[in-house]
Amino acid sequence: MTVGSQNTLWRPGLAALLLTALMGTSSLVQADETAPKGKIEARNELFAKDHIDQFDSWTSTSESAERTDALAEDPQMVVLWAGYPFSKDYNKPRGHFYALTDVRESLRTGAPKTAEDGPLPMACWSCKGPDVARVIDEKGEDGYFKGMWAKGGPEIVNTIGCADCHDTASKEFKEGKPALHLSRPYADRAMTAIGKPFKEQGRFDQQSQVCGQCHVEYYFNGPTKAVKFPWDKGTRVEQMEEYYDEIGFADWTHALSKTPMLKAQHPEYETWRAGIHGQNNVACVDCHMPKVQNEQGKVYTDHKVGNPFDRFEQTCRNCHTQSKEMLQDIVHQRKEAITEIKLKVEKQLVHAHFEAKAAWDAGATEAEMKDIQQDIRHAQWRWDFSIASHGVQAHAPEVALRMLGSALDKAADARTKLARLLATKGISHEIAIPDISSKEKAQAALGMDMKQMNADKAQFLKTTVPAWEAEAKAAGRLAQ
Ligand code: HEC
Ligand code: HEC
Ligand code: HEC
Ligand code: HEC
Repeated sequence: MTVGSQNTLWRPGLAALLLTALMGTSSLVQADETAPKGKIEARNELFAKDHIDQFDSWTSTSESAERTDALAEDPQMVVLWAGYPFSKDYNKPRGHFYALTDVRESLRTGAPKTAEDGPLPMACWSCKGPDVARVIDEKGEDGYFKGMWAKGGPEIVNTIGCADCHDTASKEFKEGKPALHLSRPYADRAMTAIGKPFKEQGRFDQQSQVCGQCHVEYYFNGPTKAVKFPWDKGTRVEQMEEYYDEIGFADWTHALSKTPMLKAQHPEYETWRAGIHGQNNVACVDCHMPKVQNEQGKVYTDHKVGNPFDRFEQTCRNCHTQSKEMLQDIVHQRKEAITEIKLKVEKQLVHAHFEAKAAWDAGATEAEMKDIQQDIRHAQWRWDFSIASHGVQAHAPEVALRMLGSALDKAADARTKLARLLATKGISHEIAIPDISSKEKAQAALGMDMKQMNADKAQFLKTTVPAWEAEAKAAGRLAQ
């Protein structure tokens, strides 16, 4: 599904230009020369001159353009996320080039008309690009996080790039050295909380930590809904679960079972750490950003972050003697094993949510439901953690399988208790599940008005986004 066009990212439409004219600014022409207020340069294109190999390979993340609708592939997820934005729209990840396009086009971010409109907070920009670091530098963390997502529209306008991972203002970087750094203070604090302060780490740990600024589990915390990683007790699934339980946190209340739920984000850093490569300190970049040679034979880091099998000779092959086919087959088999049990867990959880709803409808009390809801919460968290961790079949398949196994167990506990509870209410027949055989049917079964949402989104992409870009351009936040 492609709502709007790719061009919106780079070229404001006519409406945008008109708007700029109306605002009476003449700064369009001088945008490029405008020095940024702080010390962080978010305009990726400005680094092409000094670092052309890195820049060109970074640009080619655009080649990973395919958008896969995960809900259409597996409509049971619509029910599992009922009442939460993920039930509207959820695509699999693609190239870094598309991060901004995708967050704007997702139905999850809605169609805000003003800077104060919801549904989501500012924090939802946090892993989309270097303007986040720039705004934090200029306004502090509170200044950045405060407010709704739409507030950041004209500010966060450059996709994931140089200043997300590099101290671009440093002399070292200018000279062509990596000068890696954590551009997000909340990530820096989290790494310190797990005993791995960035500045004290060796090169390999630092390489993985820059990815761990975004490819992690996090939640929104405090009055400004700031990003925090739930790592105070550690980065294993159970440790984060315990952390969330202790602070009584819930991402949302499930629309059917009324359970206070947890939504896992994309905990790749955590699952990588737990897996065999992470334990051997094989860094993310060993597989995703290998060293390669340019035409003159100069070695540089390939910035086309993508599938490691596409560059097998420079990645796996550096350490393994097996053939590409063999290793790919191993990863493939693991993916199949994970998918098989994942679907089983989903089926049990779908039933549990509907049975819990039936119990509420039959007059169940909070006290009667408490234990059952805890089982559902834990089962779904473990399921979500396993499946939201992209590439887990390569990073830590055994962790995913163990978590899914425990999720199946907890879902079964919930259903046993529900059957007993329903019997006390005189219900002994099976609770029917509506037709959820496609994404559309599942959404309809939950009473979601997708037609309206899609229409609002189309309007938003036609008017609001070009206006954001015009404003950003006028303020010199986009390269010419
Ligand atoms: C997602 C993180 C990330 C982004 C985004 C990123 N880099 Fe890098 N960059 C790295 C890593 C990791 C290395 C390798 C570090 C090492 O070798 O220890 C690196 C290395 C480099 C180096 C050192 C020379 C080399 O090739 O190893 C330069 C220069 C560089 N990057 C420039 C850029 C530029 C320019 C951009 C933006 C167009 C950019 N990087 C975007 C992570 C990133
Ligand atoms: C500033 C946040 C951020 C940083 C830093 C970051 N990523 Fe990403 N990454 C994302 C987002 C967001 C997406 C999904 C983009 C989309 O689908 O629109 C993504 C997608 C990916 C993908 C999928 C690419 C594809 O073609 O399917 C891989 C692989 C990946 N990242 C690996 C890494 C690695 C390795 C690092 C560290 C070198 C890293 N990322 C650093 C935010 C980040
Ligand atoms: C030992 C090699 C290796 C290491 C180390 C590694 N990955 Fe991966 N990763 C892979 C492979 C292989 C895949 C693709 C699996 C497949 O094709 O099914 C993958 C997939 C991914 C994906 C999903 C891409 C998609 O489009 O679905 C993301 C995101 C990702 N890795 C991020 C990371 C991050 C972040 C780290 C470090 C914290 C990391 N990886 C460490 C090998 C590695
Ligand atoms: C920097 C070195 C390095 C790179 C690159 C690397 N590996 Fe490994 N790999 C290791 C080490 C170390 C082990 C643990 C070996 C041991 O304990 O004998 C390992 C183990 C494995 C195992 C067996 C452990 C298990 O999970 O059962 C597989 C499979 C594997 N790697 C696949 C891959 C694939 C696929 C890639 C490329 C995407 C890759 N590796 C890239 C170093 C590497």
